[in-house]
Amino acid sequence: TYVIAQPCVDVKDRACVEECPVDCIYEGRRSLYVHPDECVDCGACEPVCPVEAIFYEDDVPAEWKGYHTANVEFFDGLGSPGGASALGLIDRDHPLVAGRPVRTA
Ligand code: F3S
Ligand code: F3S
Repeated sequence: TYVIAQPCVDVKDRACVEECPVDCIYEGRRSLYVHPDECVDCGACEPVCPVEAIFYEDDVPAEWKGYHTANVEFFDGLGSPGGASALGLIDRDHPLVAGRPVRTA
């Protein structure tokens, strides 16, 4: 699976959402999250993110490794909805994201 890491927090550019052929990039309050079971590893999202927040799971930089787990755990209780657009904004975040200082600049 691919992983959305810290640079997305409070940026949420959403260019990735347009590229994903299986609509598996879900929107939380302060970040987006890739559904680990729905992602087909096509890689289309990775180059379009303007802040380079998206990585293949094995390539997540060491300081952001926790985001792999965050992307997985975000879907606890949601299961596999099969499409992000139908859900729209999911008004919460994984604790790793929720605990980030709010970006003000
Ligand atoms: Fe976030 Fe980059 Fe997508 S900022 S919403 S991962 S294009
Ligand atoms: Fe979609 Fe990116 Fe996976 S475009 S299928 S989330 S690699």
